[in-house]
Amino acid sequence: MASADINDKDLEAIADVVRSGRLALGPKVVEFEKKIADYIGIKHAIAVNSGTAALHLILKGLGLQKNQEVIVPSFTFAASVNAILYEGGRPVFADIDPLTFNIDPADVESKITKNTWGVMVVDVFGYPAEWDALNSLAQRHRIKLVDDSCEALGAEYKGTKIGRFGEAAAFAFYPNKQITTGEGGMIVTNQDSLSDALRSYRNQGRGESGQWLEHLRLGYNYRLNEMSAALGCSQLNRINELLENRRRVAQLYNERLAEHPCLTVPRISDNVRMSWFVYVITLNDGLDRGIFISELQKENIPSRPYFSPIHRQPYYLSLFPNERWHLPVTEDISSRTVALPFFGQMKASQVDQVIKAIDKISTRLSLKNAPYPANSKPKIVRLLSR
Ligand SMILES: Cc1ncc(COP(=O)(O)O)c(C=O)c1O
Repeated sequence: MASADINDKDLEAIADVVRSGRLALGPKVVEFEKKIADYIGIKHAIAVNSGTAALHLILKGLGLQKNQEVIVPSFTFAASVNAILYEGGRPVFADIDPLTFNIDPADVESKITKNTWGVMVVDVFGYPAEWDALNSLAQRHRIKLVDDSCEALGAEYKGTKIGRFGEAAAFAFYPNKQITTGEGGMIVTNQDSLSDALRSYRNQGRGESGQWLEHLRLGYNYRLNEMSAALGCSQLNRINELLENRRRVAQLYNERLAEHPCLTVPRISDNVRMSWFVYVITLNDGLDRGIFISELQKENIPSRPYFSPIHRQPYYLSLFPNERWHLPVTEDISSRTVALPFFGQMKASQVDQVIKAIDKISTRLSLKNAPYPANSKPKIVRLLSR
């Protein structure tokens, strides 16, 4: 499904750290933080050992209290919601926009109560959320915005890099991400006091004094190691190339699938710059996704039903047994979306293989399930803006 793009310079960067013997709490983490802060154009970057840790610390540092409500999409990865639960907050699921798959500001506004602390915004699949509308409602209702930008390094909203919206933003560097550190994450913010607190939280609650056995608050070990940070620096040196490769593969898919009768390709608005994290198609109404995925697998093409909404997962059903979430767009979209194999080094011939398999099974399935509802394929507004 995915594959990290690691070159000889990346390997050398890791080997240098290992040879140096300084494997933790060293200069590479500092360098990686500086590089990310410069890239985003923000004051502080705090490296941690996962995107999940980044989200957790942001909510802790911003003071989320027990039972306060945080509005969050259900169409996301579990970590966006779990971070709220770690601090005893109460997730309130909001619906999504049917074209961008991002949280719908109008539905967010309808779910604000006097107990609302803020919104966990997610730039889903690397597509920037509707930040103007979200900023405006946050100001009007005096609530906080946190950005789960774990899938969106390099994306831009109206010319501004993702990472600069909300109180703070979280990035993730798992191997399927735009750049990788193996496991790893980064918090970015312009707030000085938040940054100080987060540096302490990630390091067992230690203070700035550097006293190893002085603990000022309940902390965690969320530190990033030096090998990972060195890999992060090396990867960030070629972020433009890495993003461009992913864009090229997405464009190949888009060109080949745009007119396909059984599915819709991603549509990107002119005012955003997508940072391609995954390539997700939406099957037409009436097509059975389970069959589509298993038939693709028979052609040796892996694919995933992505995302499976959080409010439908067993744990969250058990947590909110009496809740009847009204999320019609999420229910519809999440039953029809399929992530195809996608990574920056994918060759045209590999994309071709996927397309041929889709064509083959579409013909096969259409014989079984025909006719597809003729009006179920939305008009393609736009393929790729840039
Ligand atoms: C939207 C979103 N949030 C949070 C995370 C968590 O990142 P990590 O796996 O590094 O903990 C991910 C990871 O895939 C993600 O996609």
